[in-house]
Amino acid sequence: MALFCGNAVSIIGTGICIPEKVLTNNDLSKMVDTSDQWIVERTGIKERHIASDNEMTSDLALMAAESALLDAGIDRSEIDMIIVATNTPDTLFPGVGPIVQGKLGASNAGAFDVQAGCTSCIYALAVGASGIASGVWNKVLVIGAEVLSRIVNWKDRNTCVLFGDGAGAVILAKSDGASSRLLSTRLCSDGEKSELITLPAGLIANPANLETLQNNLHYVHMKGNEVFKFVNKVLPPFITKLCENSGLTVEDIDWWIFHQANLRIIESVMKRLSVPSEKAVIDLARYGNTSAASTLIALHEAMKDGRIKEGDRVLLASFGAGMTYGSLIYQA
Ligand code: UT7
Repeated sequence: MALFCGNAVSIIGTGICIPEKVLTNNDLSKMVDTSDQWIVERTGIKERHIASDNEMTSDLALMAAESALLDAGIDRSEIDMIIVATNTPDTLFPGVGPIVQGKLGASNAGAFDVQAGCTSCIYALAVGASGIASGVWNKVLVIGAEVLSRIVNWKDRNTCVLFGDGAGAVILAKSDGASSRLLSTRLCSDGEKSELITLPAGLIANPANLETLQNNLHYVHMKGNEVFKFVNKVLPPFITKLCENSGLTVEDIDWWIFHQANLRIIESVMKRLSVPSEKAVIDLARYGNTSAASTLIALHEAMKDGRIKEGDRVLLASFGAGMTYGSLIYQA
């Protein structure tokens, strides 16, 4: 079952935080054997933002949350739950959620992190919305935040050209039954493909030691080409099914917000769905792949610049380490 039942859930505010420092493709070409032309042709990325040495995931998350609260015009005391989607928590514990909750002074809120690769933000939105739909919570702050630059090997051209840092936040609230509402969601995982994206060392399976450091096992490892094929295979039928289960067709979706991993992936998935690529919200040229933050940043920008209008149906879809994938449909 894909449809949200119970209380209607709406998005009442959004915000983002993008670190100041910009790293261009030309900057990268001085660090590894790559070129602006290769990166643009193969990924669509032109530049990405990188957190400064003293900026942590919780700092970006906090700033995105503050701007979403301002946008929603509500007090922080009204938040019942804070869910942070991240693969780069400041530390394993405490989680980013409780750190943000404390700094925000959201004294009535619980807080926790969700870690499901780049799909974490869709999982977090689905959990937050389910809590409101069922009547357990009234208002939930969902944040996607990443400082991927600290887990990227800046000597590995296969991965370092792809990622960027940033945060996006959304405030979900029980709505009065107005037409604006989250319609449906579906979350999946194929753990048999878990070797496609990994961070091999630094925790229980492979505690950090000199050897893991020398072998760069504390950095992201990815079989990019296989991820590319996996996504092209699973995502189109998965999305078609979600639309069907929601009583919709792909033509009923006005805006497509895919995980901003690679322009070629977005274009080829849309082609397989026979949807014109102009309906896609794309910002990866400026931000690169910000993992769990990417769809929330794109959603914020498309809502604020007027692309997404009242009544529009917006489909968010993501995929990532696990391999997880998931999607959610929102009527603005
Ligand atoms: O958010 C997590 C989800 N992850 C993803 O969505 C990643 C999905 N995969 C991708 O986006 C693409 O597979 C990549 C962008 C990672 C790679 O693009 P590709 O078209 O699949 O390239 P490839 O891996 O097949 O490599 C083609 C060539 C290779 O050289 P040879 O063997 O043909 O001589 C690579 O060594 O390009 C080379 N190459 C590069 N050249 C210049 C790989 N990375 C670079 C680079 N600059 N940065």
